[in-house]
Amino acid sequence: MSTQGRSKRITVPQLQARKGGEPIVSLTAYSAPMARFLDPHIDVFIVGDSLGMVLYGMDSTLGVTLDMMIAHGAAVVRGSSHACVTVDMPFGSYQESPAQAFASAARVLKETGCDAVKLEGGAEMADTIRFLVDRGVPVMGHVGLMPQSVHRMGGFRVQGRGRAAAQRLVADAQAVAEAGAFSMVVEGTVESVAQEITAAVPVPTIGIGASAACDGQVLVTEDLVGLFSDFTPSFVRRYADLGVPLEDAVAAYAADVRARRFPGEEHVFTGPAPVAPGAGKKTG
Ligand code: KIV
Repeated sequence: MSTQGRSKRITVPQLQARKGGEPIVSLTAYSAPMARFLDPHIDVFIVGDSLGMVLYGMDSTLGVTLDMMIAHGAAVVRGSSHACVTVDMPFGSYQESPAQAFASAARVLKETGCDAVKLEGGAEMADTIRFLVDRGVPVMGHVGLMPQSVHRMGGFRVQGRGRAAAQRLVADAQAVAEAGAFSMVVEGTVESVAQEITAAVPVPTIGIGASAACDGQVLVTEDLVGLFSDFTPSFVRRYADLGVPLEDAVAAYAADVRARRFPGEEHVFTGPAPVAPGAGKKTG
């Protein structure tokens, strides 16, 4: 069989083998054009359910549906050919039972063409992760600050503060790894806990607001480039402020339309003038 035309994406086992090695570079993406910009530079896309807040203006991720994740996941797969693509399972699509999780994950894999799914949860999700992995679904875990549990946490709060909470969080990460997750996002925790988790689990940890102690880093792309202005978390480094040139461009366009400077001659389709109704008819 010819392998011509087959994608050379980074695979799940290749990512897993990066434990303790070259740091894994990850970003979120939700659309094909954004994926095209990021793809050459990163190792793994996370099509995060953060899209509910970043793209749809929701105030949490709880309203995101499986259909939304599938539509955006498929777009990111179409817009990329290099980085591994992991798609978030949204709230309510996997917590009920391992069977429900499998049905949802199977839809995500079939309908997007992505490489893996991600789900939030610690020890309580271990059976579900094992069920998926045993059936061929690569799972990225997500521990620490879990946005789908925003109400239980009483807000988007740093997790693992205090010895007991830290020990619970490390135990959660170990349970996720033992269940077969190939890597895990560690979100919103203190450096010492991120260090402890990274030392305790045999799979790569990908940190967000979890210090440089992790095996890799992920950020929400819109935070990184200044396209999400509602709120910029303190752990984000802003590498660009694209909101400013975007607003300038839109203001210039609006001014041109109002002054009839746009469209210009170069934007206009030309051709023979339509024949006026009745032209050429003999009169009298
Ligand atoms: O939804 C999301 O964007 C995430 C990131 C932490 C990767 O889960």
